[in-house]
Amino acid sequence: MLLNKQERAGAGVWHEHTSMSGIVVEGLRHLYRPKRGAPVLALEDVTLSVGDQEFIALLGPSGCGKSTLLYLMGGFLPVETGLITMDGAPVAGPGPDRGVVFQHFALFPWKTVLQNVLYGLERQPLARGEREARALAFIKMVGLSGFENNYPSQLSGGMKQRAAIARTLAIDPKALLMDEPFGALDAQTRHLMQTELLAIWRRSPKTVIFVTHDVQEAVYLAERIVVMSARPGRIKEIVTVGLDKADPELTRSSAFAQMSDHVWSLVRDEAIKAQAGVGP
Ligand SMILES: Nc1ncnc2c1ncn2[C@@H]1O[C@H](COP(=O)(O)OP(=O)(O)OP(=O)(O)O)[C@@H](O)[C@H]1O
Ligand SMILES: [Mg+2]
Repeated sequence: MLLNKQERAGAGVWHEHTSMSGIVVEGLRHLYRPKRGAPVLALEDVTLSVGDQEFIALLGPSGCGKSTLLYLMGGFLPVETGLITMDGAPVAGPGPDRGVVFQHFALFPWKTVLQNVLYGLERQPLARGEREARALAFIKMVGLSGFENNYPSQLSGGMKQRAAIARTLAIDPKALLMDEPFGALDAQTRHLMQTELLAIWRRSPKTVIFVTHDVQEAVYLAERIVVMSARPGRIKEIVTVGLDKADPELTRSSAFAQMSDHVWSLVRDEAIKAQAGVGP
């Protein structure tokens, strides 16, 4: 029987990446085979190396496979063609080393905000009181103090999103996979959350893969921006941002505007192709 790369890695035959830290994606392809309708080729030949503690933004037109790539990295979809490793080990399923914030909120509807955040901390070696203090600190950080005992159905979309972010951040995983986490937030709250996320990343460096449609958000947050092509998603270009994130005037600088224009032009070309239904 021929093994694919993922299986060979699982079988210990694939040694080339064992010393590699961070997340490595190689020759990844993903075909959805819905029960009804034609198969959909979502990703084709995606190769990407994300360094340990690197902050990557993922941009690309709607439907180009960003969420699919994150599900695969998170281990929520099986890798059929190609390989994904985290710190040299093949990703074979979800794990506590990778915290995920999904595009569509995944709070437990029968648990309160506090219970949802505590759930993520259950496996941590903390005393009960410490767990609760940690959960409350993250709830406060995302601006949900006073809503600890609310159920998700009693929250707005943006509040649910913030509760899901608090739950994932509280676990302090080695890698954060975030799928449009600030998409439902108003501009003011979005800005606060961006600043907070950068502060957390500086305090407790971790690998971040952040999907967004907002070019300025990508330029503000990421060290490198991966621009994907229209479906089937391939990597079109990887842009190194290289701006001083600590500069309080950064977003008003001409370097920021130039970088945003450059990235925007790459994304716009792909969005036009996606709308025309023409793959590359
Ligand atoms: N379960 C599924 N079955 C069949 N096709 C799917 C499934 N999930 C996604 N797709 C298709 O795969 C492609 C990629 O979807 P994906 O959700 O990864 O895109 P995306 O880049 O995250 O889009 P958006 O920016 O709108 O969130 C789309 O064409 C979508 O229709
Ligand atoms: Mg998506």
